[in-house]
Parts: sequence; C-alpha cells; structure tokens
Amino acid sequence: MNAITIQRGFRVFDFTPRIGSLIEMDAAALASGRHAAEIMDLLERRGVVVFHGLHLNDEQQLAISRTLGEIVPLRDKGLLPITLDKKVDAFAAEYLNGSFLWHFDGASDDIPPRAAILNAKKLSASGGQTEFCNSYAAWEELPASVKTSIEKLRVVHSVEAAQRHVKPSPSDEDLRRWRRHEPKVHPLVWTHKTGRKSLALGCTASHIEGMEPDEGRKLLAALTEWATMPRFVYRHEWGPGDLLIWDNTGTLHRVMPYDADSGRLMTRTTLVGGEPLL
Ligand SMILES: [Fe+2]
Repeated sequence: MNAITIQRGFRVFDFTPRIGSLIEMDAAALASGRHAAEIMDLLERRGVVVFHGLHLNDEQQLAISRTLGEIVPLRDKGLLPITLDKKVDAFAAEYLNGSFLWHFDGASDDIPPRAAILNAKKLSASGGQTEFCNSYAAWEELPASVKTSIEKLRVVHSVEAAQRHVKPSPSDEDLRRWRRHEPKVHPLVWTHKTGRKSLALGCTASHIEGMEPDEGRKLLAALTEWATMPRFVYRHEWGPGDLLIWDNTGTLHRVMPYDADSGRLMTRTTLVGGEPLL
C-alpha cells in the first residue's frame, strides 16, 4: 500500500496510485454517520473503499448504507443476496452471468446507481475476487487525439448485449426475456456534475450510434482494454467480513470466476444515483 492519509479520526491507506483505499474504521464509527461525507468524498476520488473484517449483520449493513445515501428498494428492505446458489436466489444465476465481464450497473437505466455496498458473508475457497478500474483515470490519460475523436460518440447499451457474451446462441424465450428491457443510449464519455469525465463502457455496450457495427464494437473493445489495464485496476482479495463500496459512476467492475457450489454469499445494498449520463 502506498500512502497513509490521516483523516479526521481515521486512517486511509491507498492500495494503488489511481484506485482503491482501505479505511480503518470500526462498525460503530461507520454506523454513526459522522464520517459519511468524508467517506463519499473518498469514494469519488478513489473509486473503491474497503473496510476490513467488519462482519456486519443485515441490520448493520442497512443502517450504515442509510448514512451514505438513499437505498434502492430491491428485495427485502434493499438487501440483495449475491450468490450463484439457486436455492438462495433462483433469479441470480442469469443476472450474475454478466457480472463476470467488465460493466457498470444500471446501464439500461436513465440514472445509474451512485454506489454499491458489498458485505462478504461467505467466501469461496478460490476465485471470487472483485476487480475495479478507474474510468475517470482511463479517460484522463487517453491521448488528446483519441479524446477528440471519441468525445461526441453515443453508445447503445442493452441487457441483450451483456447476455449475448455469455450465451451467443440464445433461444427465442431468452431473447424475449432480455428484450423486456429497453436499450438505452448513453454518451461514451460521461461528463459529471463535477465537470470530471469518465468512460462509460462495459459488456452492456452493444454498438456505437451511426458507426458500422463491427467498427463500433472494435473501438469499444479497444477502449475497454485500455481502461482495464493494470495501472487503472484494483483487485480486491476478499477477507472474511470485508465491507467494500464502489463508486458506480466512476468505475467498471467484474468478479473473477468461482465455483457455483462454493457457498459464496455477499449481501449488497445499492445507493440511488443522482445524475444521468450527459
Ligand atoms: Fe455489477
């Protein structure tokens, strides 16, 4: 770890120069909400923040999440189980297929979630690390000529595009289910309220408007390869009870493969977004 920053009452260690920080804080201090603004500020600057070994129960996770923002009302009070175990969540297997590929959440929404909070309940014996790349840094470090050539492009995102990576020969029923979600067109370069810009890429990106489809896909693939180079990436090796928050508006993420029978279980809360892609 590179730097130690002493914030008001807590220490922060940067995992890499561009993304990922460890915050040293116990569950009580986190739940008090008194550091919420600083945590959200760190999240915007660092993309991912991690709290080691908190071992939170569901109520604690919900309470902490509420100090950071409004929770998206998914499932039971906003807690979503993340598991490949169909006995826990039959819906999960297909939904999670796309999570093994780089993406940001809510690409089919007008306003993607602000952030997501993952609480490690049970880990897999191997695999299951989560990787994040800083899509602000990926934009900022592009050559100026590339920035100029891509800045005005618009990308069509769809559930179908993501699922086709996993299942290239879908059935009619698969297509019907995927196409219930309307495709959404977003700018390739997201200009945020702060004025900062990030690359909005990922497996949901189907093609580029007004560009020959294969040419558009090649460009999207090349930009994704750029944005996910090691210098922009933080890989989280989960420890028992870790809590991790990622900024869904300034990062892409993916999970490394793990055994569906491993029992791996995360609980997730999601914070409502505040800005459309402009
Ligand atoms: Fe995701």
